[in-house]
Amino acid sequence: MQRFKNKNALITGGTNGIGFATAQQFITEGGSTIITGRTEETVRIAVEKLGSNAKGIVSNAGKMEDVFALKELVKKQTPSIDLLFVNAGYGKFASLEDADEFHFDELFNMLVKGTFFTVQQALPLMRKGSAIVLNTSVVTEMPIASFSVYSAAKSAVRSFIKTFAAECTDKGIRVNGISPGYISTNGFNNTGLSQEQIDGTIQSIIPTIPFKRFGEPSEIANAVLFLASDEAAYIHATELKVDAGVSTIG
Ligand SMILES: NC(=O)c1ccc[n+]([C@@H]2O[C@H](COP(=O)([O-])OP(=O)(O)OC[C@H]3O[C@@H](n4cnc5c(N)ncnc54)[C@H](OP(=O)(O)O)[C@@H]3O)[C@@H](O)[C@H]2O)c1
Repeated sequence: MQRFKNKNALITGGTNGIGFATAQQFITEGGSTIITGRTEETVRIAVEKLGSNAKGIVSNAGKMEDVFALKELVKKQTPSIDLLFVNAGYGKFASLEDADEFHFDELFNMLVKGTFFTVQQALPLMRKGSAIVLNTSVVTEMPIASFSVYSAAKSAVRSFIKTFAAECTDKGIRVNGISPGYISTNGFNNTGLSQEQIDGTIQSIIPTIPFKRFGEPSEIANAVLFLASDEAAYIHATELKVDAGVSTIG
């Protein structure tokens, strides 16, 4: 399939995991991609892997000076964007007693402020017929102890799906979200848990998933690209759960 021939995507957090898989599939289907990540090294390595239809921008979604520079940096690579996938981020655990202001600001700056101003920056580059996909999470529906700040931040992103959609309707830009379940990525490395704790957490989660396995990043990429494609031309203001049913029947 070449659904994205001559189309351009901007994928934040595209150096790894879900964002990288989405960039890979977008390129396989004929498109070109700009990815972001926090460091020169991660961005360079990912762009090398993705090949000549990928470009990279070092940009931290939690640093507003980086986010506000995004429009001009993207414009140097492409005059327009057909898909904006706002994906950059991670979750971190901290209990109600232990969470400090730094923890709160780190997650809210990156996920809430970062998402809001990334969309604001990209909007002038988006034409009629283009699509925005926001990455939320099942944590908006599944209460997980010590994950309250991350869950609240992702709930704000979930709220943006509807409000941005209402605002973008007249521009002819569709806005939707994907809500991933448990996906095999490096995501757990950012949570603040030790490797032993990560392994234990993963083993305790697997039996709770209806399909008894973590999802693959490509399975989320499939859903993002569906929402970006013409096949989803009548889908707007929706959040698509890609979670093996864990948030509904798990
Ligand atoms: N994995 C899951 O189970 C799961 C479930 C629900 C939702 N999600 C969401 O999916 C998204 C992608 O996560 P993932 O699971 O694919 O994790 P991942 O493999 O760790 O990838 C995270 C990506 O985001 C980038 N990133 C992280 N913080 C950033 C920042 N402040 N500014 C710019 N880029 C940043 C990373 O790039 P650099 O390291 O190069 O900066 C990397 O490319 C996140 O929003 C996450 O909350 C994941």
